Amino acid sequence: MCLGTIGKNSIRFTEQFFLFICFTVIITNVVVSAMKPQDFRTCAQTSFCRRNRAYADKAISNSFVSPYNVVKDTINIENGIISGELINTENKVSFVFQVHLLMNNIARIKINEKYPLKPRYDGVKYWSLIQEPVNTLEYTENPSTGKDGVTSLSFGVDRNRKVIIYHTPFHVELLVNDEPVIIFNNRGFFNFEHLRKKDDSVNQPEELIIQSEINTEKEIQTEEKKEERSEEGLWEETFNGKIDSKPNGPESIGLDISFPGFGHVYGIPEHASTLSLKETRGGDGTYNEPYRLYNLDVFEYDLDSPMALYGSIPFLLAHRKGVSAAILWLNAAETWIDIVKSKDDKSFLSFGKPTSTSTHTHWFSESGIIDVFAFLGPTTSDIFKQYGSLTGFTALPQSFAIGYHQCRWNYLSQGDVAEVDEGFDVNDIPYDVIWLDIEHTDDKKYFTWDKIKFSEPEKMQKNIGRKGRKMVAIVDPHVKRDDGYYIYKEAKDLDILTKDKDGKVYEGWCWPGNSVWIDWTNPKAQDWFSKKFAFIQYKGSTEFLFIWNDMNEPSVFNGPEITMPKDLLHYEGWEHRNLHNLFGMAFHSATSQGLINRTTPNHRPFVLSRSFFAGSQRFGAIWTGDNVANWDHLAASSPMLLTIGISGLPFSGADVGGFFGNPEPELLVRWYQTGAFQPFFRAHAHIDTKRREPWLFGDPYTSYIRDAIRQRYILLPFWYTIFQEASTNGMPIIRPMFVVFPDNEEIFAMEDQYFIGNSLLVKPITNQGQTTTEVYFAGNDLYYDYYTFKKVQGSGKVKVDITMNKIPVFLKGGSIIPRRQRFRRSSLAMYSDPFTLLVALNKKGEAAGTLYLDDGKTYEYQKGHYIHRNFNFTSGRFISTSFNKQVQDSENNYIKTNKDLRIERIIVLGVDRSPKNIIGYYNDLIDDKKELKFSLGGIDDIKGIVSASIGVSVEEISKDIIIIRDPKLLVKRDWTIEFVN
Ligand code: NOJ
Repeated sequence: MCLGTIGKNSIRFTEQFFLFICFTVIITNVVVSAMKPQDFRTCAQTSFCRRNRAYADKAISNSFVSPYNVVKDTINIENGIISGELINTENKVSFVFQVHLLMNNIARIKINEKYPLKPRYDGVKYWSLIQEPVNTLEYTENPSTGKDGVTSLSFGVDRNRKVIIYHTPFHVELLVNDEPVIIFNNRGFFNFEHLRKKDDSVNQPEELIIQSEINTEKEIQTEEKKEERSEEGLWEETFNGKIDSKPNGPESIGLDISFPGFGHVYGIPEHASTLSLKETRGGDGTYNEPYRLYNLDVFEYDLDSPMALYGSIPFLLAHRKGVSAAILWLNAAETWIDIVKSKDDKSFLSFGKPTSTSTHTHWFSESGIIDVFAFLGPTTSDIFKQYGSLTGFTALPQSFAIGYHQCRWNYLSQGDVAEVDEGFDVNDIPYDVIWLDIEHTDDKKYFTWDKIKFSEPEKMQKNIGRKGRKMVAIVDPHVKRDDGYYIYKEAKDLDILTKDKDGKVYEGWCWPGNSVWIDWTNPKAQDWFSKKFAFIQYKGSTEFLFIWNDMNEPSVFNGPEITMPKDLLHYEGWEHRNLHNLFGMAFHSATSQGLINRTTPNHRPFVLSRSFFAGSQRFGAIWTGDNVANWDHLAASSPMLLTIGISGLPFSGADVGGFFGNPEPELLVRWYQTGAFQPFFRAHAHIDTKRREPWLFGDPYTSYIRDAIRQRYILLPFWYTIFQEASTNGMPIIRPMFVVFPDNEEIFAMEDQYFIGNSLLVKPITNQGQTTTEVYFAGNDLYYDYYTFKKVQGSGKVKVDITMNKIPVFLKGGSIIPRRQRFRRSSLAMYSDPFTLLVALNKKGEAAGTLYLDDGKTYEYQKGHYIHRNFNFTSGRFISTSFNKQVQDSENNYIKTNKDLRIERIIVLGVDRSPKNIIGYYNDLIDDKKELKFSLGGIDDIKGIVSASIGVSVEEISKDIIIIRDPKLLVKRDWTIEFVN
């Protein structure tokens, strides 16, 4: 076995590469190689995928009838749970099923074997759900219940949700206002491979050959061959020479889930695919492979592909005019999803509008049980809330985390860090965090520092911290197998390492060379690891240091598909196969808890993770991994982040500039301009790339980048307010067009423009040399250019000229946006700055918005120590009131320490004539009205705001704007401004 040190320029270690290292030990320069599709399995190379697709093919033949029936007289309805027994009439295996009617218009279906040979994994709920969901007692049995093999209940406060269980064959319909929205087993694909003994020859599932294979393998389809194949992959499976021992044999589960009348479905990240998901069973413009959910380290990944990437969220949202519905397939084993659409479903479904399109999905996982949640909306925002009520809302980050992050693999020494930090100041560019990749450690032993290059880590962090900035250091989940390394030793002594199939500690290869993996699913490991971040334990760390969890799919360079073998053993003997997709999240969870624990009172953590699952939003941010410095990857970042955001994980970003390769300056500028309008904003670059700190390009590029980053900082109060919203109601931070305009079918698949909150419309520019673009203005209301404040002429698709200094951004009429317009070096430096309110009136002359503020650091806000204002402009009156009813102002610690925060300016767009005067007063001092200074398009006032409108001259700014100067109003108080005509 090779124990050589891995050189600092090592890039990507496939097994072959490791062998190379082992034999040469010296590595100096390695060429970056592109993603190798042959490293990853296709459906046809995956036995349970083949079997389930084949089962589906058989099921759609005319003669097929699903063999699963409800056993007579077994249905029981009690406390919001309908339970019963199913039988597979072909092999006589019994199952138990439950349909739970839950609070908030959610339903849940669970199916498991009645007498499994041994327990099947049902542990995902402990990781993904915040608590055991509460059943509702708001339901009524319908008169038909029990008759004609149908059980039917209406539920929800208004009884307008309905569940109908058909007994023969078993299928379940969920209805909203009497229209079916989700149907389980409508196509009869339900397939539950019961656990069996290997020598039980009668009870083996049939291996059916899928159509695509028949075509390619036509010539060899002899009876003999078919015979051989029927056993293939059931009890052992080999891929690229790696054997999966499959001690339990076949144990997959599959189910079809139809969305009648829904032409669009979204979600199931992570894929580099379209926002509106594609069909997957071949044909023009569709995929041949199902969407795959299996957390993998796929660097330099292909675009427009259903192949698996770093994270998995088995959440799918269906949307049509008037209603949305969604499901969560709570299973963390490898999962594939086929999608097909059909027109004119009359013959297929028992209902449906003749001309509508329906979407039919087919889900299959390698192991576990069927546990599916159905979210019955009816609106998308209801669904985001319903999903968040189960899996948790996104954690409110510290405010620095939404500033700009500067990363590269690697900043090479503390001197390098100091220079880069200084570079930002010299060049007048704000930033909040500088990052350290794996080279900062002593020999890839996380929690340690390179003794020479980072000899004074505390001093380095304090120097950064003094300027109000932070640092992030990487902590990966693999542990160098080195008896002198305390993390390894403690983990070994505590017996919390992942084991191989024979119960020995599993060893594999990663950055440190020979490594072991802590079993994050072991509660003891969670507890132990979360203590490793105590300042006294993590030597050289300070409160300015935060954490980055990478490689947590987990990435194992010599493992099958560059990850862990499926037959490894975790806590309580569960095979890795059952929980692969949540392994990375369990690590993220322990790290995040570690950062919370390290201070008293607790501070909010910041941990970036590459791997994720349903529930990861509670632990921090994620990013889309190893993208490439090209225009297509820049374009792909929008649908990817929109998809991840609507799947409950809104704090996400893509490496600005592209990880692999060297972006030309124009691409880099466009990437910064886009990244500034995405939730997590971090530039990152591969170790082999040229340095690309913003000032290295010279003007005009450096100025463009400076402007883009400054725009981010101006809008930080707006971003923070939307983050707070996401943390309480699950609304995505950046929102696809269909979320903001749910009834406009034209934009259901639109993915190249999006909203931040409901107010700012952003259109990234993703082509070289582009001088015009088309922006779609939905909703027949006013829009304003965000920089010039000019009204957009026209609606629907409008051609817009573009320049190099900015990307198109528009304010939707009806919005009020809080900004801070003074340029400083970091978000903390802006902490006490006054606010500018940007009021964009709609056609009715109205606008509304909010502003949320707290200490940006601790959990004091949970006790009511925050400011949350509700701004409303109607009939010429602009009123600010408080949402905070939790504590009195006099008891509010945030208000007490920020009592002088004030509004320094109000800009009102869409007013075409000047009021006679404008008066302002506090609502509790109505007799103390003051006349406010203002101008309509006044040149001096415009001069005062032009610096915030990057690269725009005074002449370009609309004159139809009112600027109220220093209204002398405090943020904390209720006030009114009246326009007097
Ligand atoms: C892979 C990550 O995706 C990348 O961002 C990081 O720089 C390298 N690992 C090295 O840690």
